[in-house]
This record gives sequence, structure tokens and C-alpha cells, in this order.
Amino acid sequence: MCRPTHYTIAYEINPWMSRRRQVAPRRAMAQWQALHGLLTERLKVAVALLPPVNGLPDLPFTANAGLVAGRTFIRSNFRHPERQGEEPVTERYFKRLGLRVVTLPRSFNFEGEGDALWCGENLFLGFRFRSDATTHEHLARILHCRALPLELIDKRFYHLDTCFCPLNAETALWFPHAFDRYGRRVIERYVREPIAVSEADALKFCCNVIVASRSIVLHRGISTRLTKTLAKRGFDVHELDLSEFLKAGGSAKCLALRLT
Ligand code: ARG
Repeated sequence: MCRPTHYTIAYEINPWMSRRRQVAPRRAMAQWQALHGLLTERLKVAVALLPPVNGLPDLPFTANAGLVAGRTFIRSNFRHPERQGEEPVTERYFKRLGLRVVTLPRSFNFEGEGDALWCGENLFLGFRFRSDATTHEHLARILHCRALPLELIDKRFYHLDTCFCPLNAETALWFPHAFDRYGRRVIERYVREPIAVSEADALKFCCNVIVASRSIVLHRGISTRLTKTLAKRGFDVHELDLSEFLKAGGSAKCLALRLT
């Protein structure tokens, strides 16, 4: 994770961001602190911190830094120049941790765990708004896995982690309308128990969840129907106010990158 010390809405690169709807810095810091506290103190998750950098306002969305697989870090190639300054920062960080850093050719855009999520053995890859469809071939080769590209069709759900969230090897939350017909069929074919969510829940970023074994951490305000569905499947739901981060088009999951 990365503390939102320099977090602001400095540019507009997705439909959620508006420079006229600014972040309240103290509230953002308190919300982030609550998330960090819940993970480390209550859920006993080990969290490493990437130092914040002035001039990189979206750096707290560490899910986009890249994808960690074992001791390999596949670094992102951001689509928008506004975020490309994050690339050398995270690259240096992971090199220092001793990971093998892999970069893709510059012409391939890839935004890390924002668009690449494991469900069991399969790597699901969102493409169109940020990552390119063709990265799936590179990733499948580097990671020796099946990579399933899914086209995103609704710009409000511009990263895969805004509309698809594996909860374990068999179960995933998803918002079907964010995908085309082919993508919907892929998810139905390769995820044993897909849980479709409503548009109202999806717009609250209910698919942008941090999963820590049976615990689920997300932005507050999801429907009781969804809370009940999750409880019935044995998940503990922890809701937090992350409204300051929704202003940039992100929520719980975007604020953390999985390291193991
Ligand atoms: N403002 C950031 C962007 O548009 C938000 C990133 C959210 N991260 C995510 N994993 N969905 O790039």
C-alpha cells in the first residue's frame, strides 16, 4: 500500500475524476488509515508500504503498479502519460525487494492487477480502456498459465477490478453489463460460481474488494441482498467509507497490490 500523502485529482483519465470535485486530504488520509488499520490490526495481514512521491497523485492505487507472481514483478506500462511517472518508482521498489522485474515492450499497455486477476489457475485480463488485448500472450508465456482476455465495454468500469473480483478459486463477483457477449461466456465457462451484482452495487465499487481468506473489505453501502449472499457463502464483510478514493475511480482493491 502507499499512503495518500500527495493524493489529489490532478487530471481526468476516467469518468469518475473531475478536477472540480477535489479530494479532502485529511478525510482521505483518515479513510486510508482505517483501511490500513483494519487489514493489519484486525485481519492480521502483513502490509508493506511504498513511500509516497510528490507529483504522483495516483501512486496510492498500488494495484496498478504491476502484477506479482512468486518472485517476479511484471511492471505496468501505463496507458496515460499522467501515470507513467509511477513506473520507475515501483520498478526500483521491487528491485530493491529482490524480485525479478519484467517489463513488456513499450507498445503494449498493461495496468497490472487493475486488469489482471487470478481465479484459480486462470489469469483473467481486462482490456480496451487501459491494458491491450495482446498483452495476454506475453503474460501467458511469462507466467506459464492460461490467460483469458475479456473486453471491457463500459468506460465507468475501465479496469477489470472494477467489475470482476475473484473471491476464491471457484467464486467471483462480477457485473455482467461491463462485458461483451464473449466475455460473459468466458466468465460463465471458467468461473464455477459467478455472483452477478446489480448496477447500483457495481457503482459503489462492490467488485473492488480486498480478499483476506474469508474476509472481504470494501466500500460501504452495498445492498443487503449482496451482503446476505456473501454471508451465506461464509464471507465476513467489512465495510469502510472510501468515498474520497471513489472520486478518482478507485476503492479498496485499487489501494493494495497483492504480494503473495
Ligand atoms: N485515478 C486512477 C486511474 O484512473 C484510479 C486507479 C484505480 N485503480 C484500479 N485498480 N482500478 O488510473
